[in-house]
Amino acid sequence: MKFEKGFLLGAATAAHQVEGNNTHNDCWAQEQMKYTSYAEPSLDAVDHYHRYEEDIRLLKEAGLNAYRFSLEWARIEPEEGVFDEKEIEHYRDVILCCKKYGVEPVVTLFHFSSPVWLIRKGGWEADSTPDDFAAYVRVVAEKLGPELGLVCTINEANMGLQIAAIAQRYRQQMMAAAARLKAGGADNQVQMGINFKTMMENQKRIAEENKEVFGTENPAVFCSARSAESDAIVMKAHEKARAVLRKLCPQVRLGLTLSLHDVQAADGCEKQAEQVWNSEFSHYVPYIKDDDFLGVQCYSRNIIGENGPLPVPEGAAVTQMGYENYPESLEHVIRRVHAEFGGDIIVTENGIATADDAERVKYLGTAIAGVQSCIRDGIPVKGYFCWSLLDNFEWQKGFAMTFGLIAVDRSTQKRFPKPSLAFLGSYAPD
Ligand code: BGC
Repeated sequence: MKFEKGFLLGAATAAHQVEGNNTHNDCWAQEQMKYTSYAEPSLDAVDHYHRYEEDIRLLKEAGLNAYRFSLEWARIEPEEGVFDEKEIEHYRDVILCCKKYGVEPVVTLFHFSSPVWLIRKGGWEADSTPDDFAAYVRVVAEKLGPELGLVCTINEANMGLQIAAIAQRYRQQMMAAAARLKAGGADNQVQMGINFKTMMENQKRIAEENKEVFGTENPAVFCSARSAESDAIVMKAHEKARAVLRKLCPQVRLGLTLSLHDVQAADGCEKQAEQVWNSEFSHYVPYIKDDDFLGVQCYSRNIIGENGPLPVPEGAAVTQMGYENYPESLEHVIRRVHAEFGGDIIVTENGIATADDAERVKYLGTAIAGVQSCIRDGIPVKGYFCWSLLDNFEWQKGFAMTFGLIAVDRSTQKRFPKPSLAFLGSYAPD
């Protein structure tokens, strides 16, 4: 069934994952390090920086009417206080290109990658970061303001808390393994494949290398374990950006986006599940109640047991990312968010990493049926964006994860639309 007129149906990307050569940001710096945890460097990525017009045209030809992409802060402000006009004009061109093709641009101001200078100042643990972010947003608003319509301030503002929870569980496993080693046991009891000794040795080298590159042993990049203080800093950055945009371009409709799992409780673990949901979503509600929409980003579910998320249920299908292929999660999350937030919702990301495009078609069909059922029940879902328009650079996991509606041969940068692109387009409003 097609969506009704006015519904935004599109696909999403993020600058560092598709543009190529984002040499001034922290991810690029980390990719180049000797003791990097990145599987491979992003390099030219899929050269979207030069090929955006072709990509937007393919999106339009498939029937989609909206494109979500991000501006790269480190391109626009490669050094603190130094703004690059040429890069600002580049993004104006991308926005105008969308408009030329009748595609609604949805602009994300920050999608995970930060300028290296920001991290050298303390990054996402520094009190000065909200003002630095607001200064960048002010320049964007002054220069591109009249072109902007829908804006996401910060992508997955809750990512750091999720990473902190995973890191804590991981640390507990490591400590248990260390205790066993000390007692003369083996180091093969940690669930994931880790060479415990090498990792410990590398930690020291990583710290030294971090000191060289970022001036600190523990760089507070956006996607690192976050303290409660840092969580508040991210919210402050969002609020300051909102104030700037409200003042300089009042026509803009804005929100942040959150990474949300369909949090389900294992028998008897309702309390634990409630805590996880509160950390992932509920405690943000006061910060977003004055926004124009919330960007919901959901891929799968987490079943919460006594001590946190349980492994994927036995026999369940998993995606390339290792988590469960569970497209029903989106509908569940939208309903739950609506009960607490009440405002407009845009699904700013949803999709699946798979080499089998027929599997993607199935996943999208189920997820979209869920969205449409929410809309029938009166929930104000205003848009749906598939992650991702293109196969791209999946951060530390590199190019092996294929989320795209369009495949790319990176040796020629040639684009190959997959059947899922046309399938998604078939839901577009007339
Ligand atoms: C992020 C994207 C990422 C996607 C798939 C989201 O967490 O916003 O940058 O590629 O999920 O993992």
